[in-house]
Amino acid sequence: MNHACRATYSVDETLVDCSKCGHLLDIAYDWSRVPVPGSLKQFESRWSSRRNPLDFSGVWRFRELLPFAKDEQIVTIGEGQTILQSSAGVGKYAGFQTGKLLLQYEGLNPSGSFKDNGMTAASTHAHMVGAKVAACASTGNTSASLAIYSSTTRLFETIVFIGSGKISFGKLSQALDYGAKTLQIQGDFDDALRQVRDVCAARGIYLCNSVNPFRLEGQKSIMFRVLEGLNWEVPDWIVVPGGNLGNSSAFGKAFTELKELGLINRIPRLAVINAAGSNTLYQLFEQHKLRWNGGRLDEAKIITDKFFTQMDADNRRASTLATAIEINRPVNLLKCLRALEVCDGVVREVSDEAILEAKAQIGAGGFGCEPASAASVAGAKLLREQGVISPSDRVVCILTGHQLKDPTATVAYHSVDPARLSAAAATEDDAYATMLRKAGVTQTPAANRPIVVENKFESIMQLLDRIGC
Ligand code: F0G
Repeated sequence: MNHACRATYSVDETLVDCSKCGHLLDIAYDWSRVPVPGSLKQFESRWSSRRNPLDFSGVWRFRELLPFAKDEQIVTIGEGQTILQSSAGVGKYAGFQTGKLLLQYEGLNPSGSFKDNGMTAASTHAHMVGAKVAACASTGNTSASLAIYSSTTRLFETIVFIGSGKISFGKLSQALDYGAKTLQIQGDFDDALRQVRDVCAARGIYLCNSVNPFRLEGQKSIMFRVLEGLNWEVPDWIVVPGGNLGNSSAFGKAFTELKELGLINRIPRLAVINAAGSNTLYQLFEQHKLRWNGGRLDEAKIITDKFFTQMDADNRRASTLATAIEINRPVNLLKCLRALEVCDGVVREVSDEAILEAKAQIGAGGFGCEPASAASVAGAKLLREQGVISPSDRVVCILTGHQLKDPTATVAYHSVDPARLSAAAATEDDAYATMLRKAGVTQTPAANRPIVVENKFESIMQLLDRIGC
């Protein structure tokens, strides 16, 4: 259904935007026809029937809350076995009382990122409509996820569009290894997404980016599992990195529906965190005061048109070491504004330096994540310092992708000589220092530098004495 003109389409159509008004579509349910349990706790009965793949899946064990497919149509590869974790060190680092900061570790999905929550739903819909070829544009994780669903299920062929240069090797290697046809567009992610949307429309290829409303249905389950981890209590805050804004949009929809269904009694606040080098949402929401405004979007259209026209005129391109969220034209902008309204949300930007420091703290706590994910903890820390979140609030940060996705950023942070980060020390031969310097990183206080030692037993023993091991 479309929120603006209220046009409706049948579930077996493959549209992503409304053919009448052009806005993205939402999945709307007639809840009176769905056997929704009377309480969220009733979903716990599925824990004892985990041999059924639908009950094993962390997405589909909540299938009454995304009831667009029949059981036999569902495509699952065991996604969503993720849980809420706590790390005393990370909580302290971000300024919270013990046990108040929690980490929803989505890196444990089959392809290593939260995308599998959405891709199981998009693959299910692709299967329902008999799609033979599916495609997406990606900063890396969406392509890895689509590729794994395609290779394990063999239901459809996959083509992924990636921008040039920025994709991290962990993610590129996944798409290649899983056998996806990989098109490297000579442009960035925003270019690749524009192209794939046109190509899919022209060729009748099934589009799996988060403009696809079924993707977002699957991503709602991240919030269901957060509630499950809290014994069905609602946290005070959800903090999530913002890229194409699919997650934040899905989370807002999840809470709206749960409240409508009487399954929760209040909605948590939402904080969406941009990297400072790709901060369209931050600029529009916090500086230009762009709002959902109950769905009356005439003013929003004027603000966004002007903003993007200026962005094009200045040839401004997104740039951050958190390459997963290096996006300047977030396609789910309006849906995210709706989520921010429903959740009384805020938006912040954090520097690459803050992201990498938070990432090192998360890693030291045992939950390695990729840079984009760490924006959530860096954002929670900032909001704590600003007094927006209180130290006693219960806060859930979403760790969206696994640490092994982007080892380059990790190794650069930990191994670079800090002296090389000053502009004066700029040299051509130190690739890591150059990379960090370009991203504005001036210090690496959480670095765990490798120690070089002679290939001699005595020297190693002396070193161990010196470092107290
Ligand atoms: N974190 C990670 C690890 C991501 O891969 C992405 C998006 C985001 C956060 C942002 O999520 O788009 O829902 O706001 N990655 C996409 C991709 C764009 O192509 O893999 P969002």
